[in-house]
Amino acid sequence: MKVLAILYNGFNAAVKEPRLLGTVENKINGLHREGTSSLVSSDKEGPNSDFEKHIVDAEVLITTPFHPGYLTRELIEKAKNLKLCVTAGVGSDHVDLNAAVDHKIQVLEVTGSNVVSVAEHVVMNMLTLVRNFIPAHEMIERGDWQVSDVARNAFDLEGKVIGTIGAGRIGYRVLERLVPFDCKEHLYYDYAKLPVEREQAVKARKVDDIEDFVSQCDVVTVNAPLHEGTRGLINEKLLSKFKPGAWLVNTARGAICDADAVAAALKSGQLRGYAGDVWNVQPAPKDHPWRTMKNPLGGGNGMTPHYSGTTLDAQARYAAGTKAILENYFEGREQEPADVIVGVGAWATKSYGQR
Ligand code: NAI
Repeated sequence: MKVLAILYNGFNAAVKEPRLLGTVENKINGLHREGTSSLVSSDKEGPNSDFEKHIVDAEVLITTPFHPGYLTRELIEKAKNLKLCVTAGVGSDHVDLNAAVDHKIQVLEVTGSNVVSVAEHVVMNMLTLVRNFIPAHEMIERGDWQVSDVARNAFDLEGKVIGTIGAGRIGYRVLERLVPFDCKEHLYYDYAKLPVEREQAVKARKVDDIEDFVSQCDVVTVNAPLHEGTRGLINEKLLSKFKPGAWLVNTARGAICDADAVAAALKSGQLRGYAGDVWNVQPAPKDHPWRTMKNPLGGGNGMTPHYSGTTLDAQARYAAGTKAILENYFEGREQEPADVIVGVGAWATKSYGQR
């Protein structure tokens, strides 16, 4: 039996920091098991990559959203032995999930493992944008001091309307964390309605029409998985329905937004800011517009590499969860139901769109 793991290189940082478990060097803290062969690599692009060479006879594939090995239908058709894909983290859209259903390949992720890490990052991104923090910090590093230049685009979160697309584990936690900020309203757009007590606990109101929803929000945050119903959801047309000068935070998946439309909306001022850590291609190319896009005042960009869900605390949780999923598989034990995205030949989750 062969286990193939595609993880990111940690280089010197992983040698010095053993808690960087999601790296090639630290291998989720032990993937090897008696009677299996395992290959751990970061090399994932093109026909000569370790990923494409070794997927053909692997039985188990471990990937991470932070350095996604894109398991297309074409690759799945070549992977004759593949039975189990495990996402070390949350979000399995880098696997063609419909093809996994068709080929009876199970897909599991470590549900819940990094949802607090991301929710904290979302709140940080909102504050960073709304308070115009990055231009203010850059001014200080440059040696300048001109308060009016940064204060002219700085606001409070208090009194603003905040809306989340997706009110699942992360979206809900974002709203929970915002309660003490005394925002004007918390809205959510999701086909899954929250129970009334859960709505009341975070002061959330459901809005059923996406254009109506974005037109009411000062800050929109995206917390839904990437699937057919969310790919390209935030495009030029929807951005034109946003409140002029709104802020958008997306730590869900880059491809939920149209990259060029977002850059154009920021440039025109239709968006005052955009922040997040997820990109439509990862690693993002050096000339990706989101690296350098700015609003008309030269700020409004809060982009980072994909790391919100891979804090050291999160890595401990998703490494333990990945190992537990593998142990269950090797021992023939039932998996945690919440971890199963695709079971044998059938969708198991309700989070990846209404089917
Ligand atoms: P979850 O499954 O708990 O919640 C997702 C929610 O989105 C569900 O309530 C679902 O009904 C809703 N949803 C699905 N399609 C929708 C649509 N078309 N419109 C509105 N709502 C829709 O998932 P969780 O744990 O909250 O994670 C959400 C996503 O966040 C993951 O799938 C992943 O892509 C991303 N993520 C990003 C991380 C990072 O490091 N940046 C780390 C962890 C997750």
